[in-house]
Amino acid sequence: MTTTIARIPVAHLSNLKERSGYSIKIDDIEIALFKTSNGKVFALENRSPHPKGGVLSEGLVSGEYVFCPVYDWKISLADGKVQAPDEGQVRTFELEIKNDIVFIIL
Ligand code: FES
Repeated sequence: MTTTIARIPVAHLSNLKERSGYSIKIDDIEIALFKTSNGKVFALENRSPHPKGGVLSEGLVSGEYVFCPVYDWKISLADGKVQAPDEGQVRTFELEIKNDIVFIIL
């Protein structure tokens, strides 16, 4: 079995605003890209695990968390875990940054 790894350029790091989320689409995967106030970048599936499926890129970024815009679940940008008392997990994507270009590894 062979696994193909794709390295897809999605943004210029210097164009991303801190504490903001961006929505990007690769094939049929909706991805939310976030930059935190300390300049780190994270990528998560752009959907809350809650049945209402809020769009995470529209959420509020605070530290290394995003608050879903629909019911305010607090989700870790680092590992996609929904914080207690709520439960769930959002898929995360690996990123690579080279010469100001942000790549998503799929
Ligand atoms: S849709 Fe309910 S917490 Fe996001």
